[in-house]
Amino acid sequence: MAHVCPWWFVRSFDNRFRRRFHEPEALFGRSVRPGSRALDVGCGAGFNTEGLARIVGPHGKVVAVDLQPRMLTMTERRLRRSGLLDRVELVQAEADDLRLESQAPFGFAVAFWMVHEVPDPGRLLRQIGSALAPGGHLMVCEPRLHVTRRAFEKSVEVARQEGFVEHDRPRVAFSRAVVLTQAESRGRLATA
Ligand SMILES: C[S@@+](CC[C@H](N)C(=O)[O-])C[C@H]1O[C@@H](n2cnc3c(N)ncnc32)[C@H](O)[C@@H]1O
Repeated sequence: MAHVCPWWFVRSFDNRFRRRFHEPEALFGRSVRPGSRALDVGCGAGFNTEGLARIVGPHGKVVAVDLQPRMLTMTERRLRRSGLLDRVELVQAEADDLRLESQAPFGFAVAFWMVHEVPDPGRLLRQIGSALAPGGHLMVCEPRLHVTRRAFEKSVEVARQEGFVEHDRPRVAFSRAVVLTQAESRGRLATA
């Protein structure tokens, strides 16, 4: 089983300095518009969920998914404090199931510093692909410290096998990053 970031460790990087190098508007502003639906896969303590909730605005929605109930509690608290909780839905995933079947399509999804924690990245990417609207973007960021260039490129190759094509290689501090889109509409949401 891959190592999953423990809830008590998340504050070591999701701290008050993080906005200086992971500014959500700069990271997501080109893919996410006010009013859109965004998905934060492996939301942790909700740093990106909060950033996305600000960008989608009062008419948009963010779905934040995590394996660990404690992470979802931290995200909920954070969003309540920010007054943004009404734009956010929290979903508890299982190890191999993001539990997104009942969700309407998303225009954007992010998997930030989490793909290397998942035992079957192909399955994860397939589920995200099925949840994306046609033309939707998926941003995958992996921590340079834990994920070698080679391992990252292997994940990108897995994404290609799951029907994604590369759209962009943004610069993200301390990270290896790619923005993917789907080669063609497919899955249960393809006609949505
Ligand atoms: C290193 S943390 C990153 C948190 C957050 N994305 C951020 O950038 O602050 C990785 C998160 O992914 C979650 N995670 C790991 N495997 C998962 C899975 N199979 N499904 C959903 N979440 C998962 C962990 O519980 C943890 O909260």
